[in-house]
Amino acid sequence: MITGHASVQTAVEAMKLGAFEYVEKPFTPDDLLAIVTKALEGKKEKLEAERIEQARRERAMGELGRLDAIDEILRKYDYSPSNLIGILQETQRKVNYLPQSVLRFIAQRLNVPLTRVFSIATFYKAFSLKPRGRHLINVCLGTACHVRGGVNIMDRLERELNIKAGETTYDERFSMESVRCVGCCGLAPVIVIDDNFHGKLTQDKIPKVLKQ
Ligand code: FES
Repeated sequence: MITGHASVQTAVEAMKLGAFEYVEKPFTPDDLLAIVTKALEGKKEKLEAERIEQARRERAMGELGRLDAIDEILRKYDYSPSNLIGILQETQRKVNYLPQSVLRFIAQRLNVPLTRVFSIATFYKAFSLKPRGRHLINVCLGTACHVRGGVNIMDRLERELNIKAGETTYDERFSMESVRCVGCCGLAPVIVIDDNFHGKLTQDKIPKVLKQ
């Protein structure tokens, strides 16, 4: 921060050199605070946008290496079309989702129609054709969980993460899905994050669980 008696000309020069804003005197501490807060938020958004763009570039660069890794999976399954479900499961574990380019590659290498690969990838709910976040949240809305407030848990998660079921947060940290009974109704309402079960949940516990 620079203080001084600027002319319009020097203020313009400062803006050209990257100054965020200038404040005319007299100003209050609140005026100053508001401007500094706005500047920091702008900087944070810019850094976040750069981080996402960098991640996108790295993903594109990784595409070739990724196809090599998938070829290895196909080799393990003897390039056999009868192993398609296993191949897709392992591919999703590796890549995190099933991009179209990968499905095309699998169809080509197995010598099966792309429609067959697509129909299996879209039939099973466990498969995702959209990028998934680093952590997958499965919210149980089976009968027991529904009766014990599963819908409220889902509401709270939607508000905390700013996404709906089936979506991924903008920073690709979380994806959320609704599922039917994860097999521990005694702990209802339950959510499963990756492989970790969180039972007897209340809305208040959600921020802590997400932080973990
Ligand atoms: S209904 Fe949620 S665990 Fe069974």
